[in-house]
Amino acid sequence: MNTPSENIFPVFDKIISKEKKEKLLNQKGKVVWLTGLSGSGKTTIALQLEKELYKLGFLVQILDGDNIRAGINNNLSFSEGDRTENIRRIAEVSKLFLNCGVITINCFVSPTIKMRQIAEKIIGKENYYEIFINADLETCEKRDVKGLYKKARNGEIKNFTGIDSQYEKPNNPSLEVNTSQLSINQSIEIILKNVLPQLKNN
Ligand code: ADX
Repeated sequence: MNTPSENIFPVFDKIISKEKKEKLLNQKGKVVWLTGLSGSGKTTIALQLEKELYKLGFLVQILDGDNIRAGINNNLSFSEGDRTENIRRIAEVSKLFLNCGVITINCFVSPTIKMRQIAEKIIGKENYYEIFINADLETCEKRDVKGLYKKARNGEIKNFTGIDSQYEKPNNPSLEVNTSQLSINQSIEIILKNVLPQLKNN
């Protein structure tokens, strides 16, 4: 459901504005959305990026698939419908942070163009910054940090992205980094250079 029912009375317009809160925090709220295969480096990049931004005085909240699926979304599976609901809820959560002037770094496989469009629509085009964390399947499978590709190949996990569930590459991301070719530090450098101007409030 997208519209509140007739018995719901939101007070969005009475809450202190995003702009005022951004001023308080001396930053711009933004949703930095990392999409890519499991093992492509989304979480590693987000953690490092958060540290760098913290040093520069920015307030960041990381929203990460595994964390979120252990809590608020622990009732969701990896079916297409549940993944869509996962992304929808996360986009709504991101909007709460955004309206508070906080920067979120979101690490979700978010495998289809449609799911990412839903997120962008909820968050708003001007506040949604999509980064394609690109690493080919072979590289991710070789890394297999969590041992999940092995399980998926053995049939112990069904609907695993890249194996028996699709991943649609973004056609026009705000930014793309290829972590098969770049070091983490190189990726961070590129991301910071492109993202920082969006976060500064002056
Ligand atoms: S999404 O598709 O709904 O966006 P999300 O990012 O929340 O996925 O969760 C992905 C993480 O869950 C992966 O990094 C991996 O650790 C774990 N996982 C468990 N089962 C699957 C699966 N079938 N497909 C993809 N990731 C899975």
